Amino acid sequence: MTVRGLSKSFGSGPGRFWALTDIDLSLTPRTFTAIMGPSGSGKTTLLNCLLGLDKPDTGSVSIGGQNITRLDEAGLAELRRSRVGVVFQSYNLIPSLTVADNISLPLRLAGRRIDGRRVRELAEIVGVAATLQRRPSQLSGGQQQRVAFARALITDPELIVADEPTGALDTASSDVVLGLLRSIVSDLDQRALLVTHDPRAAAVADRVLFLSDGRWQGELRGATAGQISAALTDVGRRP
Ligand SMILES: Nc1ncnc2c1ncn2[C@@H]1O[C@H](COP(=O)(O)OP(=O)(O)OP(=O)(O)O)[C@@H](O)[C@H]1O
Ligand SMILES: [Mg+2]
Repeated sequence: MTVRGLSKSFGSGPGRFWALTDIDLSLTPRTFTAIMGPSGSGKTTLLNCLLGLDKPDTGSVSIGGQNITRLDEAGLAELRRSRVGVVFQSYNLIPSLTVADNISLPLRLAGRRIDGRRVRELAEIVGVAATLQRRPSQLSGGQQQRVAFARALITDPELIVADEPTGALDTASSDVVLGLLRSIVSDLDQRALLVTHDPRAAAVADRVLFLSDGRWQGELRGATAGQISAALTDVGRRP
């Protein structure tokens, strides 16, 4: 996944506001990258551009060697359905479907064959194999988030995007979900992009990129939560 010279503005004329300016980003397989920055710094706008939900003013976003900024609506729908796995703070599971059917839903929506063995395999990897026939309401928050990860992985996407995936979880469940994200990247050769406000969560990533006023402000590799927290305070203070 490669982003080159991406800029995004909202509004026009004197009211035009640049939410992102000249953003470059490369995600190679088996890398886990976190993005942090103050509220309004452009994190969600960047994710929206990667998912084709927002169109950048300039620059390119390449996923699987294809510039997605040139895709039409059908191509973008296919991108979101099959090529990028997304996990949000709210697990967004369908209450009326079993865990197994929630996991396989992206395949069903894409009209692809459902491989029951793969569904069970992913449920085992994320640790919810015993709950496959239950409904989401019969699961804890941490378990529901693990189901959401299995659902994100079922199409074998090129990138996993997680927007505050631990935002609604207690510390113990957060640790399980972050450990899971870590092992997905290492064991399944995935790339993951995590947006978080939590330095403890970002510390699980290989590198942390800091965004402020729509521009990269620097990065840390292999940093502790304490170092990330200090860097974040620094970024927030800049004029
Ligand atoms: N549709 C829009 N129209 C106008 N301005 C927008 C729009 N979407 C976002 N913005 C502005 O772009 C800037 C970046 O917003 P964004 O949602 O990307 O921030 P964020 O880093 O995700 O913040 P948070 O941590 O609060 O989620 C903000 O100033 C926001 O007001
Ligand atoms: Mg946001």
